[in-house]
Amino acid sequence: MTERIVQTIRTVPQMRGEIAARRAAGATVGFVPTMGALHAGHLALIERAASEHDVVVVSIFINPAQFDRADDLERYPRDEAADVKAAAAAGATICFTPNVTEIYPQDFASSVQVRGTLTETLEGQERGVGHFDGMATVVTILLNIVGADVAYFGAKDAQQALVVRRFVTDLQIPVEIVTAETVRDRDGLALSSRNARLSAGGREQALAISAALQAAANAISNGSADSPEAANAAGIERLRAAGIAPEYFAIADPSTLEPARQLSGTLLIACAATVDGVRLIDNLTVSANREAATANC
Ligand code: PAJ
Repeated sequence: MTERIVQTIRTVPQMRGEIAARRAAGATVGFVPTMGALHAGHLALIERAASEHDVVVVSIFINPAQFDRADDLERYPRDEAADVKAAAAAGATICFTPNVTEIYPQDFASSVQVRGTLTETLEGQERGVGHFDGMATVVTILLNIVGADVAYFGAKDAQQALVVRRFVTDLQIPVEIVTAETVRDRDGLALSSRNARLSAGGREQALAISAALQAAANAISNGSADSPEAANAAGIERLRAAGIAPEYFAIADPSTLEPARQLSGTLLIACAATVDGVRLIDNLTVSANREAATANC
């Protein structure tokens, strides 16, 4: 296999200079922001970007501003050499690996805040809106540094992708946002950098999260649930059977995140739960268009 050449850049001026040079030569730029510990979910985003752009920038930056718990930040897996190698194999051309002061100099005093249901519900309610402030701020900074044509995000973090779309539109940041589908292990577990911290037993228990989402989705699509509450109960029952008390299990409008009032259209089913001491999130979208389903019978 040919080893792909990847350039590692640590400073903002170098990053800007490199992109300006590539753009002058006519290249288009795709961007995949990450916090490292790359797995097949990240790599699918990089592969997609590489299939659509000449230059693919992957940022690897564990953003302290978006962690609500110091221990979570401390225990976040770090292996830059392995990440750079994996990113290169997936088609990255540049890895941007700034240190914390490169992004947040000592006199840094700004914040990007998205307010309203999008940030106040689900993850915002559990982790505090500060999580999204930290995420929105760093993604704005990174988008400004990289100046990509298209930036790629995963549906695994559905709420994050919606928040990004909101501030990119509101702040008129000239970049297109693509949301790519969640990559799962064969048994349904959504890939996450945090899965590395699960014990074998914890991993087994964690399978109940995707199974519960699927149970709620099935209850909606096969008509056995006649209300969001009933579909919710189907999911929560599956979690309870595995000994998991979720932080939230919610059925919501996939673009506003308002709680679903009835089973119609496309719905987002989202769950967060701590398993084996590891906080995990996952979601599914399901079509609740019963009339169409009935008409097809
Ligand atoms: P991180 O958790 O490293 O995720 C980087 C990107 O990979 C995000 O867009 C995330 O949604 C996507 N991703 C993670 N797991 C995935 C999976 N199983 N399938 C598909 N995509 C997946 O999300 C962040 O970092 C940070 O908040 C960041 C945007 C980099 C800002 O700091």
